[in-house]
Amino acid sequence: MRSLLIGFTLIFLAITAPMMVAQKVELSVEVSKTGAKIDRNIFGQFAEHLGHGVYEGIWVGPDSKIPNTRGIRNDVVGALKAIKVPNVRWPGGCFADEYHWRKSIGLQRSVTLNPNWGGVTEANTFGTHEFMDFLDQIGADAYVSVNVGSGTPEEAAEWLEYMTAAAPTTLAKERAANGHPAPYKVALLGIGNESWDCGGNMTPDYYVSQMKIYSRFVRNFNPAQQDKQQMLKIAVGPGGDGPRWTEWTEAIMKAYQQHTWSWDINGLSLHNYTVVKWPPSYKSVGFGEIEYNQILKTTLEMEGLISKHSAIMDKYDPDKKVALVVDEWGGWYAPLPGSNPGFLVQQNSLRDAILAALNLNIFARHADRVRGANIAQMINVLQAMIITDNERMVLTPTYYVFKMYLPFQDATFLPVTFDAGWYTYGDVALPRVDAIAARDANGKLWLEITNLDPNQPVEIEVSLGAITAKSAAGETLTAPEVDSINTFDAPNTVAPKPASAKVLGGKLTLKLEPKSVTVISVEQ
Ligand code: AHR
Repeated sequence: MRSLLIGFTLIFLAITAPMMVAQKVELSVEVSKTGAKIDRNIFGQFAEHLGHGVYEGIWVGPDSKIPNTRGIRNDVVGALKAIKVPNVRWPGGCFADEYHWRKSIGLQRSVTLNPNWGGVTEANTFGTHEFMDFLDQIGADAYVSVNVGSGTPEEAAEWLEYMTAAAPTTLAKERAANGHPAPYKVALLGIGNESWDCGGNMTPDYYVSQMKIYSRFVRNFNPAQQDKQQMLKIAVGPGGDGPRWTEWTEAIMKAYQQHTWSWDINGLSLHNYTVVKWPPSYKSVGFGEIEYNQILKTTLEMEGLISKHSAIMDKYDPDKKVALVVDEWGGWYAPLPGSNPGFLVQQNSLRDAILAALNLNIFARHADRVRGANIAQMINVLQAMIITDNERMVLTPTYYVFKMYLPFQDATFLPVTFDAGWYTYGDVALPRVDAIAARDANGKLWLEITNLDPNQPVEIEVSLGAITAKSAAGETLTAPEVDSINTFDAPNTVAPKPASAKVLGGKLTLKLEPKSVTVISVEQ
């Protein structure tokens, strides 16, 4: 019986062996060329008042049994600090255009409703001061979206004065009385959200006139943000690539080209979810290779979308002063069975890690124009970094990608060339490999290589031009299945482990497992 089993095993191995032979790929890093800086703000996060994103995900209240600092949960803060979140976009999303900041400051908070997201009550216990405290605890900048849809320029201007004025105005004194005498910094200001849809269904022309008014009157008074660290104003941008969206980009950029001293914008947002078709119906767990392949194919459309809108921006802004800020992106799948559909609860699998790497690489390749991005959303909503359940917390595969990519924050992009061919499933073909390279502020070289092929390993021979590699080391992220996830009981199913990198006679070789994301540094 035993020898029969051994025999079967050998036959099985003989049949499958050719399938597992690594594809050999030559990849060159153009070390002598220097690209744009990969702005750390492309690793931004998004925290909307939606489901358990803010309440429970961040805010548990000072009386909670969950360990917290002034109501903000310590485990989440620790995890987010470790990925050096550059900025957090808040309070929405669609929520932002129905948010009235006065209802969530001071001792008396109004209880309101959240009609966009499940129609639940909004306790307003997490407001301006709590958000700023949270940012302080994780070390991130504020990206505040003001209410253009149902608010007024006056309301938004007063909010900014409340947050940023150092002079003893009535609003600044009110802020001090509420516990914060020093002015807050607001690094980024979103002028509305999806004003073409949930933000008020405006026409491009109508939005342009609103944008000018908000840009002019919603001022940042923080003395530290007058010359240096000026607040960047982000206009609502397109949400797709059809004529409706190109017209939108044209309208904003044309207005920008003709702008006078009295108003300005520094960024144009772009929203693009990986969905395949609306309403989102793909499962976030419990899927196979076909759904893996289709979702990744769809996510790669980000490249064309950015190229298209960048080309329009180039016409009106050839010096690339206005950044393209992809401030909502990520996989959007069917809600998990049993969850409130308005809470956008989904799982986060190895597929999402690969999806995240592909998008971050696209942003890096467009680093001259894409200088900000915010994955949707940070905790418990859509493609989250973190999932919580009462006192329990688990880090998702996407979290680990953001952690592995830390060296790329503010690094200088270096072009890479390679031809790895295609991985095909059914009639859908995907590039087998994706890669970027960069040099960090200390001159260290970093490489990210994604093997999209879920079945075949890849062996990469890296050529570094005039540079002789002495050693290389790094981490790789993979898992048994394309839909492997981390759970509270098994939190390390998809977690980074040491990468297989070898330097022999100055030649660098990397072995990439199927369906993996790898980041390595090279010692020269
Ligand atoms: O992220 C969820 C929602 O998606 C946001 O509120 C909105 O801006 C977008 O449509």
